[in-house]
Amino acid sequence: MIVGVVAESSIGEDRVALVPKIVAKLAKLGVDVLVENGAGVAAGYGDSAYEAEGARIAADRDDVCQNAEIILRVRAPSADPDGGREDLEKLRPGQVLVGHLDPLGGIDAVDALASTGATSFALELLPRITRAQSMDVLSSQATVSGYKAVIQAADLINRMYPLLMTAAGTIAPTRVLIVGAGVAGLQAIATARRLGAVVQAYDVRPAAREQVESLGARFAELELETADAEGAGGYAEALGDDFYHRQGELMAELVADSDVVITTAAVPGTRAPVLISADAVKGMQAGSVIVDLAAETGGNCELTRPGETIDVGGVTIVGAVHLASAVPRDASDMYAHNMGAFLENLITDGAVDINLDDEIIQGTLLTHEGKIVSERVRELIANSDRESE
Ligand code: NAI
Repeated sequence: MIVGVVAESSIGEDRVALVPKIVAKLAKLGVDVLVENGAGVAAGYGDSAYEAEGARIAADRDDVCQNAEIILRVRAPSADPDGGREDLEKLRPGQVLVGHLDPLGGIDAVDALASTGATSFALELLPRITRAQSMDVLSSQATVSGYKAVIQAADLINRMYPLLMTAAGTIAPTRVLIVGAGVAGLQAIATARRLGAVVQAYDVRPAAREQVESLGARFAELELETADAEGAGGYAEALGDDFYHRQGELMAELVADSDVVITTAAVPGTRAPVLISADAVKGMQAGSVIVDLAAETGGNCELTRPGETIDVGGVTIVGAVHLASAVPRDASDMYAHNMGAFLENLITDGAVDINLDDEIIQGTLLTHEGKIVSERVRELIANSDRESE
C-alpha cells in the first residue's frame, strides 16, 4: 500500500503532513511512502531527507494522487480556492484522505468532498479521549499557535516584556491578558511568563483556574455565572449573546489595563464569541497589541479581520489564521507524529481497516461512499438549516 504526501497549496501554508522521521514508522506498518517533490522544503525537509528514510519522491502531484491509496494533507483542498478544486477532481472513490478537512466550516466544501466518493477522515473530529491524545492535531497545532502569538506580539509591541531594574533605568513589565485558557491559551501563558511578562487569564470553564495559576498567572475574576460552561469532552458550551455581551463589558477594564491581549476563546462548531468590542479597543493605550487566535472562526475582537494585521487608533490587531504554519518545522513534526499515530490505528496488516466500532475511526470518518457520514457534521448541518428557515 502506498501512502502519499502532497505539497500544501493554500497560500501561506508552510507545513507538511509527514516528516522524514515518521517514514520508518510507516514502513513498519507495511506501507510505502510517496512524497510530492518539494513538499517538505518550506518546513525544512528537502526531498533527500525523505529518500534517506526510505520514501520515494514522486515526479509530480498527479503521480501521488494516482498511485497513493491514502493521501495525507495538512489542510483541506477547500483551503485553496483555485487548486483545491483540481485536487478534488483527482480524488477517486475509495481513496482515503486524512487531514484537517474543516468539517465544521461549511457544508458546500464537505458536500464537494463527499461527491468524490473518497473516504475522508477529518482530524478535527478526533474524540478527546486518552487513546487519541497522540493523534490530537488540534492540541499540537494550538500549542504552536499559542507560543507564536506571544512571540508575534512581542515583536509588534513598542516595549519589552520583563521587569528591568538597572542602574541605567527601570522598565515596568508588559501586562499580558490571555482570554481562553485551553491548549493555545495555556501555552501562551507559559511563553509570556518565560519572557517575564505579568500575565492574567480568563476562561469560562471553572476547571481552567487551577491550570492558569499553576503556570504563575493570575486568574481574572469576573462576576459571571459559569457553572454550566463546560460540556462534553471538556469543551466550553455556547453561552448565548447576552452572556458574551456582559462578559465583554466586564472585561473592558482588564483589556484597557493590558499591553498585549491574546484571545483564544472558541466553542467547537460555532462562531467564536465576540468578547472585545470596538469601544474596548479604544480604551487601550496606543502601541498595544491584540493577537486574535480565534480569527479563523470570526474572531473574539469585533474589529478583527481574519488574515490581516490592522492598526486601529494605534492598537495593532492581528487576525491570526493558521499561525502554526509560521513555525513550520516544529508544527510539521508534531502534526506528522499525530498522523503516524492515526495511521497506526487505521492500518491493519498493510490495509485500511474502517472499523466503525473504534471510537476514533467512527468519530473522524467524515465522508464515505459518496455520503457525509459524520453524525456531528450532519447534526450541525441540520441545525444551521433549521436556523436559516
Ligand atoms: P478550544 O480551542 O475549543 O477553546 C479555547 C478555550 O476557550 C477553551 O479553554 C474554552 O473553555 C475557552 N472559552 C470558550 N468560550 C470562552 C469565553 N466566552 N471566555 C473565555 N474563554 C472561553 O479549546 P481546547 O484548547 O481545544 O481545549 C478545550 C478542552 O479540551 C480543555 O478542557 C482541554 O483540557 C481539553 N482537551 C482534552 C484533550 C484530551 O483529553 N485528549 C486534548 C486536548 C484538550
